[in-house]
Amino acid sequence: MAVIKVHDKEFITYLSSETIEKRVREIADEINRDYSGKRPLFISILNGAFMFTADLFRYLTIDAELCFIKIASYKGLKSTGKIVTTIGLEEDIFGKDIVILEDIVDTGKTLHDFLPKLFHQQPNSLKIATLLHKPEATEYPHQLDYVGFPIPNKFVVGYGLDYDGLGRNLKEIYQLK
Ligand code: IMP
Ligand code: MG
Repeated sequence: MAVIKVHDKEFITYLSSETIEKRVREIADEINRDYSGKRPLFISILNGAFMFTADLFRYLTIDAELCFIKIASYKGLKSTGKIVTTIGLEEDIFGKDIVILEDIVDTGKTLHDFLPKLFHQQPNSLKIATLLHKPEATEYPHQLDYVGFPIPNKFVVGYGLDYDGLGRNLKEIYQLK
């Protein structure tokens, strides 16, 4: 098991790149089945979801649209509880089938703040796909339609997720030691 250092903290390997890839493929297969004959619009939440989004998209065989928004609530190892939108949604989502792509759902606050804005625009349907979920950290519950891995309430980095700006480029997911 590899130990790595990001900033001042040590992390150990938690999910290998093979494990992640296999699961991302399975989620893509499920989405391909569920949205067969439809043309969903995927809304990927930057920054963390960029890698999950890119990998998932390679395995989609349906017609799929993609856009990005940027919201963040984290500073260091803790959620600040304040959500800041820095790149908003430009697309008109009225009548569309929406799939939100998240790297991780932790307290659920990000989605709690963002989802009402989407529902306000009356999409035809809305589902959530997240690579990781920390069930024990839930403060705002959501129906998560596609979950890659439920994980314990420990800080993780890698595969798009950062610790204070670093670690996003790691192919594996690491857990705080
Ligand atoms: P929530 O609003 O508490 O659900 O947090 C969601 C966002 O916080 C995610 O999209 C991540 O950007 C960030 N986040 C939550 N937990 C972690 C973690 O363990 N490592 C890195 N980022 C995290
Ligand atoms: Mg994020």
